[in-house]
Amino acid sequence: MQPVEIKKDIYWIGYVDYDHRDFHGYSRSPDGSTYNAYLIKDEKNVLMDTVYSGCEGTLLCRMAKVLPPEKIDYIVCNHMELDHAGALKTLVERCKPEKIFVSQTGLKSMAGYFPDMKDWPVQAVKSGDSISIGKRNIVFQETRMLHWPDSMVSYIPEEKLLISNDIFGQNIASTVRFRDEYTDDGEYDHRVKEYFYNIVLPYSPMVLKALPVVEKLDIDMVAPDHGLIHRGTKAVADIIARYRTMAEQKPQQRALIVYDTMWHSTEAMAYAVCSGLEESGVPTRLMSVKSNHHSAVMTELADCGAVLAGSPTHNNTILPLMAAQLTYMKGLRPLNRIGGAFGSYGWSGEAPKQLQEWLASMNMELPAEPVKCIWRPNGDTLKACHTLGVTVAEALKKKCQG
Ligand code: FEO
Repeated sequence: MQPVEIKKDIYWIGYVDYDHRDFHGYSRSPDGSTYNAYLIKDEKNVLMDTVYSGCEGTLLCRMAKVLPPEKIDYIVCNHMELDHAGALKTLVERCKPEKIFVSQTGLKSMAGYFPDMKDWPVQAVKSGDSISIGKRNIVFQETRMLHWPDSMVSYIPEEKLLISNDIFGQNIASTVRFRDEYTDDGEYDHRVKEYFYNIVLPYSPMVLKALPVVEKLDIDMVAPDHGLIHRGTKAVADIIARYRTMAEQKPQQRALIVYDTMWHSTEAMAYAVCSGLEESGVPTRLMSVKSNHHSAVMTELADCGAVLAGSPTHNNTILPLMAAQLTYMKGLRPLNRIGGAFGSYGWSGEAPKQLQEWLASMNMELPAEPVKCIWRPNGDTLKACHTLGVTVAEALKKKCQG
């Protein structure tokens, strides 16, 4: 339970949560996350964010290796979601800070979660406000809807350090604290996409507005509140570039087929659609919702410019796991995709049209009518599925070139 000095007199004092998986529907598998909190030692000692309720004992142990809790002068709350503010009440009671800083909009969520705050020394701050803590200053920058209305980041110019809260994070539970110590580049890439596509994606337009603001700052370290710290200008530039790419959502020549099946007819159709795509030069990932969590499907979408959805008709509608998948996907507001739909049925056959409507509601381009098949797919139906794959592939290739 040691603190980790990330810069001279600035310490990581957070919590590594190896067990927590479900994060409002996003499965942080396979290994949890971290709640990063930071301690700055100066004339005024500052605690930057706290941790999830129940993890405060570890935070206090790490803090005590640097200074006793009663020596904390200021607490900064960059964001009131409870993975960062859950331990706030305990920390306020232990530290008795002279001031607690929160964004203007954070006041509302703080009051909602902590009625006691009416007795706390809270000071609301806005973009551009700064406080002197001795040798250093902390400059606040609101980042509304990245990813809550209250979100803000804290910049310490003397240290070229941006404490970025949720932005630029990843759900990686590990004994290493820095990106350059994490040697599995493929896994890192996957986790950055997983985090963005399951949390930040709806706010892509706000990301694109915020990045130029961040790029104007002189930064050689970005310390997020989840996962690994980006150390050095190269690492900082890398995560900013990744965010720009993910937020822009330019079409990529790769397709995702997501489906459920009852008696393997829709599954056979999915494989035929896959053949059409692959034979047209579009690499395709085929994912059954029975075998893949809806957040894993969203992560896959990061590299796919097309989505093809399949479900048999069941009780005049689509199967429930597909409904859950599409509800989750729609909420995350992917942009700039091409879609297609297919499915089998026994008598009424509403599902393919309903899937097509789901995709249309996400503003996807739909170059083909949905393909449906009664009972088992025969050669003609499989050919129609193959043609659906080819049609979507050609539309996607054109979009990627355009
Ligand atoms: Fe990591 Fe929005 O809390």
